[in-house]
Formats: sequence, structure tokens, C-alpha cells
Amino acid sequence: MRKIFLVLTIVAMVIGGVFANSVADGDMPPADAGKLWSYMTITNPYTGWGFWPNHVGMYAGKSPHGAYLKVYANTLALKAAREGKPMPDGAMIVKENYGKDKKTLMAVTPMYRMKGFNPEGGDWYWAKYGADGSVMKSGKVEGCIQCHSVQKAKDWIFTPTE
Ligand code: HEC
Repeated sequence: MRKIFLVLTIVAMVIGGVFANSVADGDMPPADAGKLWSYMTITNPYTGWGFWPNHVGMYAGKSPHGAYLKVYANTLALKAAREGKPMPDGAMIVKENYGKDKKTLMAVTPMYRMKGFNPEGGDWYWAKYGADGSVMKSGKVEGCIQCHSVQKAKDWIFTPTE
């Protein structure tokens, strides 16, 4: 009897976890730049997500990204960032890169954690899109990986949460 109870409890926890996740971020897209773009602009538009902790709105960025940036994070990424925990499977950080006029959106560069996708690259899926969603780079992008690898100890993320 006790065993059944235990099993039921575990089943309920798993279903609860999956459900909570699906409510927060929806069904996550596969490693496909087109599907990722439609996920992050139509299914679960990133402009409705929260900003990276303590980096609300637009601020001046460093090379090679835009002169000005906005950094958004999905529910999973925000929770981990706020708790100082590693980014879980499904975490997404989307950066908008603006020109010097602070108005022209030059590119959108997400990083999307997919467990098992690329262990030696921190399991991040990288992409670079034009403002219209055209795919400029995607997948295991060498440039992104190489530069961000100096932040390996911080989950490959440059921007601090404080
Ligand atoms: C030469 C170094 C360099 C390269 C190449 C690079 N980045 Fe970054 N990236 C940075 C720095 C530095 C920041 C911190 C933001 C800032 O101040 O500009 C950053 C920030 C980010 C962020 C916000 C989260 C964080 O790490 O702070 C994302 C998302 C991101 N980059 C994605 C990409 C993608 C996708 C590519 C490849 C298409 C890429 N980056 C290529 C240096 C780089």
C-alpha cells in the first residue's frame, strides 16, 4: 500500500512538473533556427519575458554585440538567474542588438540550453537573426562558442545578475 502511495506521489510530481513547465514556457522548440524563431516570436514572444536581473530595458553593450542591448530571459532562465543556479534544460536568453541611434534593431542573438545538444559547448544552441527573423547563424556557432567559452565557469554567460 505504501509503495503505491509513493509511486502515485512521484507520478503526481512528474506530471505537476511537466505541467508547470508547459504553462510557463510552452512546448520547447527543437534545434532548428526557423522553429526557434517562431517559438520565440509567436508561440512565446520573448518581448513579453522578463529582462535579465538588474539589466532592465536598454543599456550600452560591448563589442561585438550592438552598441545598445536588451537582454530577455524566459521563465526557466530567469528563475535560475535569480536563484544563482545553473541554467536548466530549456533556458533561453535572448539579446536584442541595437545601433547607435538606439532605435534600429540590428540583430537578435539567443542562446538556448538544450541538454545533450553540444556538451563541449555547454549544451547551448546559438543563433543570430536579422530583425526580420532571417537566419544569419545557428547551431554550434564557432564564434559564439569561442568567445563565450571564457565564461565557462559562469555557464557561458557574460552578463552578471547583479
Ligand atoms: C568576441 C566575443 C563574443 C562573441 C563572438 C559573441 N558574444 Fe555574445 N556576448 C559577449 C559579451 C561581452 C556579452 C555581454 C553583453 C555586452 O555587454 O555586450 C555577450 C552577451 C550575450 C548574450 C546575453 C547573455 C550573456 O552571456 O551575457 C547572449 C544571449 C549572447 N551574447 C549571444 C551570442 C551569440 C548567439 C553569439 C554568436 C552569434 C555571440 N553571443 C557571440 C561576447 C561575445
